[in-house]
Amino acid sequence: MMRAMTLVEREDGLRIVRVHDPDDAAPYRASFAGAYQDIFSGPPYFERFYASEALGILDGFLRTPDHVTLLVLRGDARVVAFGVGVPLLSRPDIARSLRGLVPPRHVFYLAELGVQDAFRGRGLGKQLVDLRLHLVDTQRYTHALLRTTASRKGAYEMYMHMGFEDMGVYMEVPARRVDGTVTTDRRLFLSKVLAGGA
Ligand SMILES: CC(C)(COP(=O)(O)OP(=O)(O)OC[C@H]1O[C@@H](n2cnc3c(N)ncnc32)[C@H](O)[C@@H]1OP(=O)(O)O)[C@@H](O)C(=O)NCCC(=O)NCCS
Repeated sequence: MMRAMTLVEREDGLRIVRVHDPDDAAPYRASFAGAYQDIFSGPPYFERFYASEALGILDGFLRTPDHVTLLVLRGDARVVAFGVGVPLLSRPDIARSLRGLVPPRHVFYLAELGVQDAFRGRGLGKQLVDLRLHLVDTQRYTHALLRTTASRKGAYEMYMHMGFEDMGVYMEVPARRVDGTVTTDRRLFLSKVLAGGA
């Protein structure tokens, strides 16, 4: 068993921790689920997740070899933001849609990023991207990849400023929306060559 490790103590009192396994994550599970539901129910995704689904997603990441799961905590256990990365090979659906475009075994996929509304605009989103890129083993992974909304507001600009490139490839992602409908939305793939590789 490893203990959640504090990576950053921010000046605003927020703490960024890395959780490795279900024991590490136990104190934060309920709050993670709430944050996940809350963040994705708003723009640009308007997705509805049940708490059980959010927990299932977290558990899936924690079981994935080489995952990087970061939580931003306020106080002891309130999750206000999260960032998760996993090897692309753990996401065969996504790897398949990029066949021939990236070397799947050497791609690290930035799977989730979310910051609660009240905590946006103070650098957490960017910091969670930077930290994950920093923690990737660049001997094994040469590229970072992610999928973001094609609406090109907010996150897209953030990633462009951080050196990601638009691959010109998109995917229609089906999701249950807060109004109860199931619809697709278009997400673009962005990639970045990791420094230090080869
Ligand atoms: C996208 C998201 C993670 C950004 O988080 P954040 O903590 O606000 O981001 P940061 O404070 O690090 O800001 C990063 C950049 O985004 C932009 N930005 C952040 N907040 C903004 C706001 N309220 N209005 C306009 N631009 C904003 C800024 O351009 C900033 O760049 P800068 O370094 O040039 O100032 C957050 O808005 C979010 O969780 N959105 C909903 C879920 C989502 O879209 N996730 C990404 C999926 S890939």
